[in-house]
Amino acid sequence: MKGISILYLFWYLFSFVYATQAKHVLVIIADDFGWADVSFHNTGGIQTPNIDRLVGGGLELTNYYTQHICTPTRSALLTGRYPIHTGLQTNVIAISQSSGLQRDEMLLPEYLESCDIKQRHMVGKWHVGHGHSWMTPWKRGFETFSGYLAGAEDHYTREWCMEQTDWCGVDYSEHSASLSGPTNSSWGKYSGDLYLQKMSEIVKSIDPTKDSFIYFAPQHVHYPLQALERHLVKYSWIKDTNRRNYAAMVASLDEIVGDVIDLYHKNRLLKNTIGFFVADNGGETRDGGNNWPLSGQKWTLLEGGVKATGFMFGGLVPLGKYNGLFHVSDILPTVMEAFNCPIKKKIDGYAQWEAIIYSNDFPRSQILHNIDPTKINKVANDSRTWNSDWDVRVQAALRKGPWKLITGDPGFTSDEVPEFPVSPPEWHQQGPYKTRGLISQITGKSSDYYFDNHRNKLVRLYKIDEDPTESRDISDQNPSIVEEMLNILIKYNSTMVPPQLPDLDPFSNPKLHEGFWFPWISDEYNSKKQML
Ligand SMILES: *[C@@H]1O[C@H](CO)[C@@H](O)[C@H](O)[C@H]1NC(C)=O
Ligand SMILES: *[C@@H]1O[C@H](CO)[C@@H](O)[C@H](O)[C@H]1NC(C)=O
Ligand SMILES: *[C@@H]1O[C@H](CO)[C@@H](O)[C@H](O)[C@H]1NC(C)=O
Repeated sequence: MKGISILYLFWYLFSFVYATQAKHVLVIIADDFGWADVSFHNTGGIQTPNIDRLVGGGLELTNYYTQHICTPTRSALLTGRYPIHTGLQTNVIAISQSSGLQRDEMLLPEYLESCDIKQRHMVGKWHVGHGHSWMTPWKRGFETFSGYLAGAEDHYTREWCMEQTDWCGVDYSEHSASLSGPTNSSWGKYSGDLYLQKMSEIVKSIDPTKDSFIYFAPQHVHYPLQALERHLVKYSWIKDTNRRNYAAMVASLDEIVGDVIDLYHKNRLLKNTIGFFVADNGGETRDGGNNWPLSGQKWTLLEGGVKATGFMFGGLVPLGKYNGLFHVSDILPTVMEAFNCPIKKKIDGYAQWEAIIYSNDFPRSQILHNIDPTKINKVANDSRTWNSDWDVRVQAALRKGPWKLITGDPGFTSDEVPEFPVSPPEWHQQGPYKTRGLISQITGKSSDYYFDNHRNKLVRLYKIDEDPTESRDISDQNPSIVEEMLNILIKYNSTMVPPQLPDLDPFSNPKLHEGFWFPWISDEYNSKKQML
């Protein structure tokens, strides 16, 4: 009896302290950061001391999953919804497309605003829509923004030129109480230095006694591969040029992360921080990234595309490893649960904060990796038939417990970009790929262990807990699981909204906007268009 009441007293005190202390949520999302590109995974030659230290004092999300490319991931993070429900399941938004998160979506900073949480800031990459003026971050819940609206621009000039056209311009805007709009004021400054400086200004402005939310989306380590000399010298031993430049860019990312954490510490925020560090998708091997020992890469629904580095940190986060399935769409409800702020819309994400701090059962057992109705595999020669009505030529992937089902083409592989795991170039500096003997070191299987050729299969089933590198398709051995999962895809498909695929809009051309990429659609634009 006595024990219970003392426990209760502790519980009461804890809840009271917990409920009254300010919380500082910091989400850091790295761009195209591969599984083998962080040293705590022990799989490549790149060193990330700051990130390693942070995860060492934090909570590793060992089963963190993301979407296979940038826009879908960032849209899921900001809305808590799968891309099939926002129309962003196909491709990234091209800079001249007017697609994006529509007005009826509610974004994380907007939810926080609805609970009267002030101090909501964003620095870095947006890329969830910018054609309409109401789509910008400062119209979607952020009080300030310094960053770029699309992706893949130059790290010094912030210019982006579209290959198909000669449309070229600077993609960089700032919004604060004193100024708002596109600006060329940072021309020539390295992205790493620029975004760190912006983070420094913002973090110093935060009142530590009141809640805050900062969404930091650095440009690193996305191509173009532009690295600093002082980082390149550390990696002069890597012979592969892309890998060497990429490794040096990872050094920048690691330095920025370390500096941001220092800022949080110095400004007395870190002890009350709930931090996330996540990658937005797998690494792109053609541009120096690597996902060893996972199969595939960015753009694919294989593990190398969707299983990514993820962890939590900060004084409010417990130490250790969290092994539950955690999808990028879970960040929103998890943050909302930590703030005790209700979610008024139907979302796909799971709140995992209570499970994380009280070690409750894992809330999530299933992840829809994606359905892309525009990608239909018409070349694979797979004559097997299934009872389910699902069109197995359509690109889709679903995780259920340990099982992973893939239909259609998992995406973007070729002889140049193979499906099977490609080990980091620094491991075998003579030739580009040499995977076989090395696989055995990870899987413990014999060195003649090989990967099935799955190219001709429209349905594949893997058991991820036993086969994390997706080497053996076991769909023939488990037909009832395949059927069950195909039927789950049908259910998801019935809730899907069509992909937003607007044409490239010539009105976006920076020539019409003083050399900048910036929202080009307003009421004024619509009346101009009618006059044409
Ligand atoms: C397709 O598969 C069947 C049966 O496995 C085989 O007989 C046929 O030659 C294959 N066709 C092609 C184009 O590979
Ligand atoms: C998904 O749903 C759409 C529209 O409801 C339908 O046209 C399509 O055939 C379905 N896809 C598959 C793969 O069954
Ligand atoms: C930005 O400044 C640079 C250097 O002065 C100049 O070359 C470039 O044209 C400017 N771009 C815009 C969009 O103003």
